[in-house]
Amino acid sequence: MEAKAVPSVTFRDGRQMPLLGLGTFMASSEVVGQAVDAALETGYRHIDTAYLYGNEAAIGQTLKKWLDYGRLKREELFVVTKLPNTGNRAESVEKYMKKSLEALQLSYVDLYLVHSAVGYLEKENSSPFNRELDMSTDHISLWKAMEAQVDAGRARSIGLSNFNARQVKRIVQAARIPPANLQVELNVYFQQRELVAFCKALDVTVCAYAPLGSPAFPEFLSMFGNSLSDTPILSPLSDPVVAGVAEKHGRTPAQVLLRHVVQRGVVAIPKSSNPERIRENFQYVTSSRVPVQRPLLSRTMAYARKKARSSSVQLYSLLIIKQLYTIINKFY
Ligand SMILES: NC(=O)c1ccc[n+]([C@@H]2O[C@H](COP(=O)([O-])OP(=O)(O)OC[C@H]3O[C@@H](n4cnc5c(N)ncnc54)[C@H](OP(=O)(O)O)[C@@H]3O)[C@@H](O)[C@H]2O)c1
Repeated sequence: MEAKAVPSVTFRDGRQMPLLGLGTFMASSEVVGQAVDAALETGYRHIDTAYLYGNEAAIGQTLKKWLDYGRLKREELFVVTKLPNTGNRAESVEKYMKKSLEALQLSYVDLYLVHSAVGYLEKENSSPFNRELDMSTDHISLWKAMEAQVDAGRARSIGLSNFNARQVKRIVQAARIPPANLQVELNVYFQQRELVAFCKALDVTVCAYAPLGSPAFPEFLSMFGNSLSDTPILSPLSDPVVAGVAEKHGRTPAQVLLRHVVQRGVVAIPKSSNPERIRENFQYVTSSRVPVQRPLLSRTMAYARKKARSSSVQLYSLLIIKQLYTIINKFY
């Protein structure tokens, strides 16, 4: 099948990663297949999942259908999955990699990421969200086991997620196969300019998660009886500056937010389970219309700071640590 042209970023080894992918966190197994179908029909070729999302098998079924019917060739797809925190030690990597490949029904993934810098103890029959810290986590030996996945042909490229600049640099310096990509929270309210520049200097590409500000995340937390009353929640999708830019360009706020990320050469992986929004999120990124005005959007951050009376507007970076694991741990 002829794919629409999606711009890409290029890894140091020459491999390419499409600048736009479909995020699938909080997309249950019941709905994710339909979302992946809609995305592939639209022209997305990059799908982002993780062992922790619990939806790899459903995604795998849909991908298999496309591959078996000859609608896509494997090399046209870019599939990303992630090692869970409970696998953050050298001897666990191969096991989790194989589990993900089995669920996805693939012989390799295009990019395998260490989901988090923080490791958790792995206990028999325990939840993957078990949050007992593993104080013996060693990033260097863990990375060697990640490199072995490339050697074994299970991952074309390897990378990191939720690692800070110092941690990334340490791995780059010790690596035989350096990380190709760093996936972090990044959106117009949390632009990560220093980190992006730092990664660029190290030849590590960056992927933005929560590029729309993750509007469903507070609802996700409240499902488990938690509220965000002590944390300023701002919505880039309803920001008046973003709305103004959208109106000016005849686009939607989501399109403006995504364009603002990808025009910096940062990959964006907006999640949607809604076929119309999946199409909406794809259009502006592949269009050749005039890009979103940078100065206008840069002001948005100042606006956000003022409104929140704090620079801590990043949802995940605060809350994953503070709340998410506590809640999920209760749930499992
Ligand atoms: N590495 C990590 O630790 C990490 C952490 C978080 C996320 N991620 C990855 O990054 C992806 C994106 O992050 P995210 O899902 O948290 O947040 P997001 O992509 O910023 O926001 C997704 C939310 O926005 C809604 N939405 C999507 N398109 C829209 C549009 N055009 N207009 C209005 N609302 C729209 C979606 O609802 P509908 O589904 O109803 O459209 C969904 O609730 C995840 O799915 C996951 O793959 C990685």
